[in-house]
Amino acid sequence: MNAGLIIAIDGPSGAGKSSSSRSLAQRLDYRYVDTGALYRVIGLLAVEHGVSADDPERLAALCDDLPLRFLPENGGVRILLGAREITAAIRQPEVSQMASKVSAQPIVRRRLLGVQREWGAAGNVVMEGRDIGTAVFPAADVKFYLDASPEVRGQRRYAELQDQGVSTDLQKTIQEMAERDQRDSTRTHAPLHPAADAIVIDTTSLSLPEVVDTMLRAVQATRKC
Ligand code: DC
Repeated sequence: MNAGLIIAIDGPSGAGKSSSSRSLAQRLDYRYVDTGALYRVIGLLAVEHGVSADDPERLAALCDDLPLRFLPENGGVRILLGAREITAAIRQPEVSQMASKVSAQPIVRRRLLGVQREWGAAGNVVMEGRDIGTAVFPAADVKFYLDASPEVRGQRRYAELQDQGVSTDLQKTIQEMAERDQRDSTRTHAPLHPAADAIVIDTTSLSLPEVVDTMLRAVQATRKC
């Protein structure tokens, strides 16, 4: 059996990436890396420091020497910036929008590329994001691209936010998600799109175990090659 696979999982918000990536990582005993959290941290810092999404130099400075720690806990991951717990703060709708805006800046993407490659280089990793299979690890061993209908993605995102105690409403969530997806997939630098060799899974009418089983079968097939 081969060791050290890099598994890339990309797709728009609400497609089921986070729960399936976490579950797949658990089943394989791999590390789970949420690269969106990295962009969210820059989004949070930009909001808090009053840095505009159109100010590449100041945004780039926010990417330097991030004292970030990801602590797996109860099936989830706590995120600390220095001694500060930012797990909930980075999920606020305002931060989601800012994360999407700052992620369109090429300088921010360049600064964060090295960290992501470092995190994944040793393999045995399930890495979730928007450009893992196309830009971060174009030679990843297995690539998945998850998608679902906008209605289902909006409902999932809304349920997720409610679980996290973020107050919002369904229509607003769907609207914000559509704006973010539009921006993420039309930006010039590393836009969201499936890699040519990605396995595309439409999760609209699939349960989480069904998605994870489909992924596991593809991973096992790669290991046998
Ligand atoms: O996956 P997420 O919703 O937490 O990501 C937040 C934003 O970060 C998303 O709108 C686009 C950006 N992002 C990105 O550009 N590239 C990645 N690999 C991950 C996230």
